[in-house]
Amino acid sequence: MRILVTGGAGYIGSHAVRALTRAGHQPVVLDNLVYGHADIVEKTLKVPLVLGQVGDREVLEPLLRGRHPALDGTPLEGKPIEAVLHFAAYAYVGESVTDPAKYYRNNLGDTLTLLEALVATERPLPIVFSSTCATYGIPQQVPITEDHPQAPINPYGRSKWMVEQLLTDFAAAYGLPSVIFRYFNAAGADPDGDLGEDHNPETHLIPRVLDTMSGREPYLQIFGDDYPTPDGTCIRDYIHVADLADAHVLGLERLLRLREREETERRPLIYNLGNGTGYSVQQVIETAKAVTGRGLLAHVAKRRDGDPPQLVAGATRAHQELGWRPRFPELETIIEHAWAWHQRRHQG
Ligand code: UFG
Repeated sequence: MRILVTGGAGYIGSHAVRALTRAGHQPVVLDNLVYGHADIVEKTLKVPLVLGQVGDREVLEPLLRGRHPALDGTPLEGKPIEAVLHFAAYAYVGESVTDPAKYYRNNLGDTLTLLEALVATERPLPIVFSSTCATYGIPQQVPITEDHPQAPINPYGRSKWMVEQLLTDFAAAYGLPSVIFRYFNAAGADPDGDLGEDHNPETHLIPRVLDTMSGREPYLQIFGDDYPTPDGTCIRDYIHVADLADAHVLGLERLLRLREREETERRPLIYNLGNGTGYSVQQVIETAKAVTGRGLLAHVAKRRDGDPPQLVAGATRAHQELGWRPRFPELETIIEHAWAWHQRRHQG
């Protein structure tokens, strides 16, 4: 099946491209390369890359019809796209607070343009959307299940929540089929070692721990050790990026099966993606020490604004409805894969 992957040059999108290819699909990537990496798409994934903005109709409309120069000479040339995985978004929570316009324009405005293009085709094209546990805000209880109230506390989370509302309204009004995945903390790297996380700036805990262990950073800051958790540091549910990628293939295939049988209810399918196990910042550091055999200098700093003490997924719906089983649920494995990628990416 021919699938448009927006943000396919980014961290989670690139792993999804690989999962799609392995499942026999034909992806094409649309990415503005603000944070994505062209070399990953062209040299590692070896799929067509269209440089552009999701909200640019002049790029989007011909691309959805298979009429873009980047597709010439490929099996996708002249053939319409059949489904979309939509990863493209800005994801720096702190920046979203200081520059919300940037987040609403890109994450919300551009997505509206995409959805309009999807319902303008003869039969609305199915879409799988990357949402986040940040749409829940400060949880009232953990594990967090999909029916937990949503009260995002920053513009990043709100931009994702608003797209969820668009998808709900577009499903009801236009019959747009969609899956919404709410990721917990994406981490790790492809087990083959040639794809992984490479953000600039990097804000996420595991790559920062590894940066410090490899000497790329002088020390790690632990953002708060006075939270109401057993060791006082924040607890998160780290989910392997390859497991997230697998879920996308399963979600897309379920959507298509339901559509074939004309059983699509006129609302999105919504799934949390996490392991259901929480680890504190301290536990992540200890596990990374054991995996890498290295130490690090860590200082306790003040709390980072907007960090909930604990985020842990209730993800049984994805197990039951999609048959999703994370292949790499162990934190050790997640960090081992992240470390292998880190060493390879930064060796030069
Ligand atoms: N942390 C540190 N030191 C660091 C980096 C992080 O102590 O240098 C702590 C954070 O305070 C937090 C935990 O490690 O308690 C995890 O932080 P990350 O930045 O790795 O991830 P977040 O939990 O902040 O991720 C959130 C949401 C995601 C969302 C993401 C956007 O959980 O849904 O922000 O990047 F997508």
